[in-house]
Amino acid sequence: MDTEIVDATKRDVETLVDIYSSPHLYHTKDEASWFVRSFFDYHHVKVVKLHDVLIGALFWRVEEEKHHGIAVIEDLWIDEKFRRRGFGEKLLRTTVEDAKTFFGKDGYILRKVVVTTAQDNKPARRLYEKIGFQKSAVLKDLYAEGENELVYVLTLNPKLTTVKLDKKHTTISLKD
Ligand SMILES: CC(C)(COP(=O)(O)OP(=O)(O)OC[C@H]1O[C@@H](n2cnc3c(N)ncnc32)[C@H](O)[C@@H]1OP(=O)(O)O)[C@@H](O)C(=O)NCCC(=O)NCCS
Repeated sequence: MDTEIVDATKRDVETLVDIYSSPHLYHTKDEASWFVRSFFDYHHVKVVKLHDVLIGALFWRVEEEKHHGIAVIEDLWIDEKFRRRGFGEKLLRTTVEDAKTFFGKDGYILRKVVVTTAQDNKPARRLYEKIGFQKSAVLKDLYAEGENELVYVLTLNPKLTTVKLDKKHTTISLKD
């Protein structure tokens, strides 16, 4: 299949707003529009395209300042018709590599990737666990009573605390 995983561009905004306006994702067009547009200026949107048609998306951002080395995945979605074909996994793995590069080009190191998902979202939980994310916390009743959200964390550099590389990119600070 002729698929590619690429950075979304402004030309993808309207398609993403339409997708996120679906009742399963965001309820109103306004809300979907706010969500999608809020990411384009300062964050990262990666999309899966099959013969140029957008069939998946992942939104991520830097948590606080870059020196913490933490990326947060805000959303991951694959078109229902194309699920269970490895696209979600490929998109997630590509994003982790991209995030490493993004931090690295300023001399920082990606330490952790954080994502939350509903406790009853088996596909997402399996996917995160397959890639090495570990369940770290439960946010009880987050979106509604009885709807628990799980926090998953992928730890890439467990011992690292100070994450800025020196000028020669040779030393890093480690925990004792
Ligand atoms: C979660 C989601 C992105 C997975 O995308 P996908 O392209 O279908 O996933 P993949 O085909 O790459 O599957 C990779 C792994 O995820 C797990 N997985 C995916 N779908 C699964 C399912 N329905 N049941 C159990 N495990 C599943 C498996 O471990 C799978 O590996 P395997 O094929 O070796 O068993 C997709 O189901 C989706 O868009 N769901 C709706 C939105 C959502 O819930 N997003 C995550 C919330 S943040």
